[in-house]
Amino acid sequence: MDAPFLILTVLAATVINVAVLCSGGITSSFVRNVEKSEDMPLDSDVFKVPPGYNAPQQVHITQGDHVGKAVIVSWVTVDEPGSNNVLYWDEKTNHKKHAKGTVTKYKFYNYTSGFIHHCTIKKLKYDTKYYYEVGIGQTARKFWFITPPEVGPDVPYTFGLIGDLGQTYDSNRTLTHYEWNPIKGQTVLFVGDLSYADNYPNHDNVRWDTWGRFVERSVAYQPWIWTTGNHELDFAPEIGETKPFKPFTHRYRTPYKASHSTAPFWYSIKRASAYIIVLSSYSAYGKYTPQYQWLEEELPKVNRSETPWLIVLLHSPWYNSYNYHYMEGESMRVMYEPWFVKHKVDIVFSGHVHAYERSERVSNIAYNIVNGKCSPVNDQSAPVYITIGDGGNIEGLANSMTEPQPKYSAYREASFGHATLEIKNRTHAYYSWHRNQDGYAVQADSMWFFNRFWHQIDDSTTSARS
Ligand SMILES: *[C@@H]1O[C@H](CO)[C@@H](O)[C@H](O)[C@H]1NC(C)=O
Ligand SMILES: *[C@@H]1O[C@H](CO)[C@@H](O)[C@H](O)[C@H]1NC(C)=O
Ligand SMILES: *[C@@H]1O[C@H](CO)[C@@H](O)[C@H](O)[C@H]1NC(C)=O
Ligand SMILES: *[C@@H]1O[C@H](CO)[C@@H](O)[C@H](O)[C@H]1NC(C)=O
Repeated sequence: MDAPFLILTVLAATVINVAVLCSGGITSSFVRNVEKSEDMPLDSDVFKVPPGYNAPQQVHITQGDHVGKAVIVSWVTVDEPGSNNVLYWDEKTNHKKHAKGTVTKYKFYNYTSGFIHHCTIKKLKYDTKYYYEVGIGQTARKFWFITPPEVGPDVPYTFGLIGDLGQTYDSNRTLTHYEWNPIKGQTVLFVGDLSYADNYPNHDNVRWDTWGRFVERSVAYQPWIWTTGNHELDFAPEIGETKPFKPFTHRYRTPYKASHSTAPFWYSIKRASAYIIVLSSYSAYGKYTPQYQWLEEELPKVNRSETPWLIVLLHSPWYNSYNYHYMEGESMRVMYEPWFVKHKVDIVFSGHVHAYERSERVSNIAYNIVNGKCSPVNDQSAPVYITIGDGGNIEGLANSMTEPQPKYSAYREASFGHATLEIKNRTHAYYSWHRNQDGYAVQADSMWFFNRFWHQIDDSTTSARS
């Protein structure tokens, strides 16, 4: 009796194993309402203009240097240029200081922007709460932010992940869930596609202004790290607008010069124990291009003893099993994937596809035109790829998937939401994804990330189940 039973057990185990390997990961059976998302109307509460003459609006901050000791503060005034200065003070000392900024404006077809101010506050202390004030007289407005702890290998830090946000009722739900998530994100890594103003006739840039007012409630208090998506291109030759990224570059600043980049669309920052590299899917990335040359020099500079966590942000995903934007990231993957494996990137976050997906650690770099080796294979030096383009924009959900679910795909679901990444120390980081239909604390997908440099053991969730 014993021997046949054993054989049966082994056979059953093998069948289960094969089933898991063939079918890849989980396609969530969660069913949600798939009505098309609608932009919130112009008179919505979230778009309210702050009261008073020339009151600053659309206030937003981002990291202003390479290490986290500077902050770029941006805002818009509409009646007149007003002051470019930011008044700021350390909560503890109350000693008030001024930083001087600049003002710019632009036209887009028949739209004229307000006065857009950018001011970099430098030489801040680490891990300190600062108050800051923009505007003058009766319409000055006060906000605050907390600088990150000093860069170091075991510094805990929590990032939020949001992509393809737009300004629909669903976008508002995503932002609200991020704000109320008990896992408190300290900085947002934004993977591209901000306002979706280009969905309107003549890319009505009024929708860039409404978006700026909508997200102010978060981005005035914590930095959002910007990645550009296709909706930032605003390339519209039919109305004479031929300079790509025109509204984005006037409204949003990135600290690209601090990482020796020559354009605001690709750059890097260190923050706590993370080294974050931002790439541009819509700028040239082929051999000899500025972005290629920059990345080639950038990756070897990452010192994992200082910043163990190497994270890449880019808009168009390389591993995507939805029938939307399928293989659009392919040419960039072919160019850069060998470098990501060589340098053991921990995680790549992208957007573009309006759904959620998490991959296994896979690579597809063996192919050389004649050897036929063109399928992704498990690779413990490869990153996990996460698509988080589920912010909730006007274009609606991507709910059609390629079948069967490919082996590289660990979890996929067509729901709106956001994610958080809690770095604990140099070896462990806890990641979770939160869908908008659940309570604020509910985690619909989660995993422990083991650092690829310090703790390169298998953290795959599919093999854990088999
Ligand atoms: C811009 O032009 C469009 C039509 O071409 C028109 O509907 C709109 O009112 C104009 N906007 C401004 C600010 O002039
Ligand atoms: C957006 O969300 C906030 C916070 O939950 C809420 O107060 C506001 O009424 C919402 N606005 C719209 C237009 O849904
Ligand atoms: C890497 O970082 C560690 C810790 O900060 C430092 O001791 C070491 O000198 C750095 N290595 C290089 C090559 O800069
Ligand atoms: C790193 O964090 C993980 C998760 O919190 C913990 O289990 C582990 O003991 C920590 N490592 C060290 C060296 O403290």
